[in-house]
Amino acid sequence: MPDFAASLIRWQKANGRHDLPWQGGRDPYAIWLSEIMLQQTQVSSVIPYYQRFLASFPDIAALAAASQEEVLAHWSGLGYYSRARNLHRAAQWVVKRHDGIFPAEFEQILALPGVGRSTAAAISAFAFGRRHAILDGNVKRVLARYFAVEGHPGAKGVEARLWQHAEALLPRQGIEAYTQGLMDLGATVCTRTRPRCGDCPVGVGCLARHLGRQNELPGPRPRKVLPERETIMLLFLHKGGIYLEKRPPTGIWGGMWSFPEIAPADDPQQASLARFGFETRLLEPLPAMQHAFTHFRLRIRPQCLEVQGVQPQARQADGVWLGLEEALGAAIPVPVRQLLLQCGKGDAKKPAG
Ligand code: ADE
Repeated sequence: MPDFAASLIRWQKANGRHDLPWQGGRDPYAIWLSEIMLQQTQVSSVIPYYQRFLASFPDIAALAAASQEEVLAHWSGLGYYSRARNLHRAAQWVVKRHDGIFPAEFEQILALPGVGRSTAAAISAFAFGRRHAILDGNVKRVLARYFAVEGHPGAKGVEARLWQHAEALLPRQGIEAYTQGLMDLGATVCTRTRPRCGDCPVGVGCLARHLGRQNELPGPRPRKVLPERETIMLLFLHKGGIYLEKRPPTGIWGGMWSFPEIAPADDPQQASLARFGFETRLLEPLPAMQHAFTHFRLRIRPQCLEVQGVQPQARQADGVWLGLEEALGAAIPVPVRQLLLQCGKGDAKKPAG
């Protein structure tokens, strides 16, 4: 068999990526942060978040000492917010259990909240030069093609076979360039659609290429229709302020700021009065929007209401009134950001009817 690792390492040195902001150093904290951000998120989206995050929380002690609120605000817009909550918890864990020193042992890295086997391996390789196999989404595609492994890579048995291949290919030396090379190959050559097989350093050994099956491998995810939920978000406007509530600490958008929600069957004005003591005037609703989570799709119907009075006996709810700029700087999920921007454009000011 042609030497997969040697070819890949040579290619990485000549053609791989070398100037990403998290490359070139060995600070395990910075590498860990980058690997967490790069889970499920593309390099180009991660870079500005990574730089802002490191500027605000330059080391693990700074992150551990920050409030969850501040950490989430730095993650706002990047999605999959449990990553930020886990990162924060992990930093506090490292301070408490490892005297603030990021652990060097693979098993200890793997034990950190939010760190799976592939992420632990990437951190071990980049920060400590340790020899462990990675298998993220891109690498699964590379190996499924190279070895013509049938089936969806997320399926248990398929994933187990890919791990075996990943382990068997590891080089004795040069684990950093090899690991980065696998990532770079998946991101720039062995792409999901239209792979550039002519430029591939391991193309001669690639079974999918020999069989002309690059477009069939890896196998597709079995079709599963995501259930749809619907919610009405209440956008309360009052004297230039917008009303946001902090969501419960667990569940979707845990700990982030969002608009109050009511069930699709509820009447927005009655609910506003009953729950908040807000006397309101109905404004034109904003267009409905869809947001996809891992396990369901959320259909959001944004209802804008101008608050004209507050009943004196109303309980002081857990929400806050924020100006637009202030709200945009808070820990808010993407759909809330989009709705705030629409409010800012004046789309929410028209009376209904
Ligand atoms: N994806 C996951 N980790 C990465 C890294 N270190 N560089 C580029 N892309 C990545």
